Amino acid sequence: MNQQPDGYGIVVVGAGPAGMAVAGQFSKNGHRVIIVNRDCKVGGLAEYGIFPSKHRLRTGLQKTYRDILARPNVSYFGNVSVGREKDLTVDELRGLGADAIVFATGAQGTKTIGVEGDDALGVFHAKDLVYHYNQLPGFSERPFDVGQRVAVIGIGDVMIDIAHWLIRYKKVQEVVAVVRRGPAERKYNPKETHSVCSNIDKDALAKEFARIRERLEAVGQNPEQIHTDMVGEFKKCDPAVSGTMMRFRFLSSPRRVLVDAQNRVRALEVENTRLERTGDDTAAKGTGTVDEIRCDSVIFAVGDRVDDTVGLPYKNGMFITNPTPSGHEPDDAWFQVYDEASGKLVDGVFVAGWARKASEGLVGIAKRDGEWCGEVVQRSLANRAPRPARRLDEVHREIQTLLESRRPDAVTKDDLQLLAEIEREEAIKAGIEEFKFPTNRDMLAAIRQRRMLVGGAECAPA
Ligand SMILES: Cc1cc2nc3c(=O)[nH]c(=O)nc-3n(C[C@H](O)[C@H](O)[C@H](O)COP(=O)(O)OP(=O)(O)OC[C@H]3O[C@@H](n4cnc5c(N)ncnc54)[C@H](O)[C@@H]3O)c2cc1C
Ligand SMILES: NC(=O)c1ccc[n+]([C@@H]2O[C@H](COP(=O)([O-])OP(=O)(O)OC[C@H]3O[C@@H](n4cnc5c(N)ncnc54)[C@H](OP(=O)(O)O)[C@@H]3O)[C@@H](O)[C@H]2O)c1
Repeated sequence: MNQQPDGYGIVVVGAGPAGMAVAGQFSKNGHRVIIVNRDCKVGGLAEYGIFPSKHRLRTGLQKTYRDILARPNVSYFGNVSVGREKDLTVDELRGLGADAIVFATGAQGTKTIGVEGDDALGVFHAKDLVYHYNQLPGFSERPFDVGQRVAVIGIGDVMIDIAHWLIRYKKVQEVVAVVRRGPAERKYNPKETHSVCSNIDKDALAKEFARIRERLEAVGQNPEQIHTDMVGEFKKCDPAVSGTMMRFRFLSSPRRVLVDAQNRVRALEVENTRLERTGDDTAAKGTGTVDEIRCDSVIFAVGDRVDDTVGLPYKNGMFITNPTPSGHEPDDAWFQVYDEASGKLVDGVFVAGWARKASEGLVGIAKRDGEWCGEVVQRSLANRAPRPARRLDEVHREIQTLLESRRPDAVTKDDLQLLAEIEREEAIKAGIEEFKFPTNRDMLAAIRQRRMLVGGAECAPA
């Protein structure tokens, strides 16, 4: 550690694609990076969001992140949360004297759309289910009883992932995608439908187009063309493994979750909508008439918001950034955290990735956002003299000291290497592509055991 040359030292909170891009870029330029991450493992949604069967994408990203972590100027504290009443607070991190702190904590807050009954038994948020089937500790062992008929709200890629899981793994009877606008406003990537298209009820889809035909025509849309395009996208469908019927219910905005005497979901009440032109786009407007969709569970796949308990200035589901553009490209203002109460920037504090724009874009977009943020941080440090490497080591040690009593089981990058080894061995033993320990307890026990085997001593913090 103290072999490092002098340079800048930053703390990156969050080790998803955005945080790892900031860390990668900063460390490549010879500066020092300390990563603090809620999960034991790095990757964020690349590890715990991307559908488990996408092995190539996932293993490629895992390798990229391993290579960044292996750099001597990058250190890691996993299993450590930053926020109010968490392991470390924003003020504590700011007090350490790092040159900058980048929050790349993703969109961990739950977006609710405020319909009556949304706390009933059988109402779920997509992110929680995604974390469940990807075995994120805290979610992996939680029961999610979805029943046989499932209404999924939204028509983005997350809806398709949830339908994929319901059709190919849970093998439920029926999945209904409930969409407040029309089929022309579908947001999913057509290529992602291969996992579900064998199960789409094509007759029901044709009837649904007939049902909404007049409302599409009223805004100049061509129902036949949209229908042909939509069905034409159902290509290279994976062979069906279940009898699940997947259906679509368009122009329907969720209004109430209807429950039985045990407060269990029995149906979703939707208000019928029509489309209204808003420039190049459309908006859904309620018609005042309602219908019921019978279902056992309702899953909201409508995007997420950031987690306000992190403790950064927050408004309307987002962390607040500088309202005054800098004129640079990328614009510094997009990433600079801003305190509206004082009308000032929060000095040295930045946001990147889904912490900056919740639920927006793919891994590549989050990576680019992290890289842009890295550029902005470097620009902000241009007039500051690099620090002695010794001082940067002190920041690391101070974090260690703070964590000694609060989070003695913080995971180091050496630990992660051991964990990866163990999980690889378990996968080979079980003859499966990927093995994951479902709880932090299991992960930490496996690491401890391996540490004793390999050296007897506890791992030195990396
Ligand atoms: C269900 C789903 C499937 C997806 N599938 C694909 C796909 O197939 N292909 C694709 O390209 N993109 C996919 N995406 C999009 C992609 O996952 C995101 O674009 C990307 O992960 C966002 O990166 P991020 O780093 O901003 O946030 P995240 O990936 O969410 O990373 C956030 C990190 O911050 C950490 N963290 C959170 N809170 C704290 C805290 N308080 N303190 C410390 N650390 C904290 C978390 O542990 C995590 O490591 C998918 C997204 C979802 C939701
Ligand atoms: N396989 C993949 O590549 C993959 C997988 C998952 C996620 N992702 C990416 O992750 C990002 C997030 O995906 P996402 O599916 O969560 O978001 P999304 O693409 O924005 O879709 C959200 C859906 O929820 C609907 N919605 C939002 N608010 C609503 C409300 N109040 N009432 C009813 N419906 C509402 C939206 O309808 P409106 O259009 O009317 O607002 C939209 O259909 C996207 O960039 C996506 O591409 C990628």
